[in-house]
Amino acid sequence: MKSALISLLPLAAAWPGVMEMNAQLQGRHMPRDFERRDPNPGVEPPPRAPLFLSNRPNTGAAHNPPAPFNAAQQYVDVTAGSAHEFRAPGPKDLRGECPGLNAAANHGFLPRNGLPTTTDTVNGLMAAYNMSPELAAVLAIIAIALGGDPVKETWSIGGAFPNTLPFPATGILGTHNRYEGDASIMKGDAYLNGGSVGVFQNHKWDFFMKQDEPFTLDKAAAQSDYVTRYSILNNPYYFSAPFSGLVAPAAHDFVINFMSNHSAEAPGGVLTRDVLQQFFAVTGTPTSYTHNQGLERIPLNWYKRPTSQQYNVPDVFADLGANNAMYPGSIRFGGNTGTTNSFTGVEIGNFTDGLYDASTLFQGNNGACFLFQAFTAGLPDASDPIIGLGKSLLDWAVDKLGPYSSKYQCPQLKSVNYGPIFQSYPGYSYDS
Ligand code: HEM
Ligand SMILES: *[C@@H]1O[C@H](CO)[C@@H](O)[C@H](O)[C@H]1NC(C)=O
Ligand SMILES: *[C@@H]1O[C@H](CO)[C@@H](O)[C@H](O)[C@H]1NC(C)=O
Repeated sequence: MKSALISLLPLAAAWPGVMEMNAQLQGRHMPRDFERRDPNPGVEPPPRAPLFLSNRPNTGAAHNPPAPFNAAQQYVDVTAGSAHEFRAPGPKDLRGECPGLNAAANHGFLPRNGLPTTTDTVNGLMAAYNMSPELAAVLAIIAIALGGDPVKETWSIGGAFPNTLPFPATGILGTHNRYEGDASIMKGDAYLNGGSVGVFQNHKWDFFMKQDEPFTLDKAAAQSDYVTRYSILNNPYYFSAPFSGLVAPAAHDFVINFMSNHSAEAPGGVLTRDVLQQFFAVTGTPTSYTHNQGLERIPLNWYKRPTSQQYNVPDVFADLGANNAMYPGSIRFGGNTGTTNSFTGVEIGNFTDGLYDASTLFQGNNGACFLFQAFTAGLPDASDPIIGLGKSLLDWAVDKLGPYSSKYQCPQLKSVNYGPIFQSYPGYSYDS
């Protein structure tokens, strides 16, 4: 079952960056200042036109045409008394940089304390958004391995929580360049915000709003290209890692795929300014917006994506591939080299032993396989098993992801040698 990923074990163990990764795991910590705004908007990138428009429906490139609307299946009841009514988080409830997770917790689709298990994640994100059980499980397993508690199979949608491990469980907020990354759709780069991740950026919000409703995947692609070029022009530590460098671009597509409202007239979904503002906890009008961190909500009278077209792992790569075709290079690996506008890319083939390249990454199941492998290769292979788990984090993750890797018939990587390639980038080792 797990042979494809097992092949990574000795290679990851030999990876020279492993010791640094271990150090980073020990040093993970909480953000300091959530509400600071970008005080000095930086250098704005010049406009860039796409090579073409994809005109994908809001159900994504892999679900075109969209399935017929089914009100009973797609209605998400968040009315008073539904048990899914909005409630602002209490002082001990954890919230983080992800609006989809914050909103799900504020409505009790995830535990309101912000500490879901894998099972909570699968059930809750299907009920709220029609995320496929497979994508939800994979994202939860990664969250647990990078900043959670594998013994209890629990993770945090925000900051640190008490755990049973010999190192802290930081929550997804403490995963800079491992899960969280630069060039997010609305939140600022850690280095530009005093080490904090999840700081709302007015200039990003304004850029998206100026594209105007209804919001589509083509507009998300334009935003992804804009924020990437903004980071390159402004953040000397901008870095896009093999795994986390896909998460921030994919989250752009999540906005459209998961937040759109569906109806009989528009089965592919429509995303209006009003619905987007509710999900992102932004109040106000184009002349004056206010972001209210932690108060993200699912709108009343809202219908999620079709149940027969849940968003799954390969669908993520179908949309990433379409975005990158529209704006070549908007998905890239590497970073600035310590000064702004010094981006130096690393070819995908150079860290996958030639298995993938920019032209094949988005074909078939390659993206899914690349994701599993890039993520697993980035885990420290602590030779001592974690007490209570009986195995290392890497072994645990390989076991958990093995079935998916097998299902997608992922090829084996012959060698993974990230360390020497990425070590020269200051952003690679920057731990907020
Ligand atoms: C288990 C499921 C999920 C996990 C583990 C997860 C995790 C994360 C992480 C680590 C980030 C930071 C990435 C970055 O640096 O940009 C993030 C951002 C984001 N996520 Fe999620 N997420 C999940 C589900 C969802 C869902 C269901 C939605 C949509 C409804 C969503 C929408 C977003 C958006 C829009 C951002 C970017 C936030 C911003 O820049 O303002 N996520 N998520
Ligand atoms: C979703 O679409 C339906 C049908 O057009 C509409 O009645 C409803 O108000 C919309 N919901 C939101 C939150 O905009
Ligand atoms: C890829 O690897 C080759 C051979 O080691 C090297 O010459 C080349 O500079 C590398 N290119 C990139 C972009 O990393």
